[in-house]
Amino acid sequence: MLKLYVGVVKASLFSMPKIKILPHHEICPNGITIESRPGETVCEAALRNNIKIEHACEMSCACTTCHIVVRKGFNSLDDANDTEEDLLDKAWGLEQTSRLSCQAIAINDDLEVELPRYNINQVSEDH
Ligand code: FES
Repeated sequence: MLKLYVGVVKASLFSMPKIKILPHHEICPNGITIESRPGETVCEAALRNNIKIEHACEMSCACTTCHIVVRKGFNSLDDANDTEEDLLDKAWGLEQTSRLSCQAIAINDDLEVELPRYNINQVSEDH
């Protein structure tokens, strides 16, 4: 928690971390780079910038629809808690650097994230 607080204070004194969202065929075809605000999750920053990341549980850490894969800056994120880790095990396309975007907060380093092609809702509907 202290790490997060210090990071938020540092972030508010200096420039805000940028989040580069790589192109996704439906949600963000051209990709985009957005700026996060102190304490804001990746999902909140994306939604504020009209990037419609699914968030079926309303960002309460109870689904996996907001799954992202962090391509750069993963180690600068706050740590995932046990609930997030358990949920990620069910995510479509899980990778070592997967996170739930509604739980991941960019503290001081820029991020590059990929939105998986599918999420568990889409997989269920399609199969
Ligand atoms: S929106 Fe459900 S866990 Fe993130």
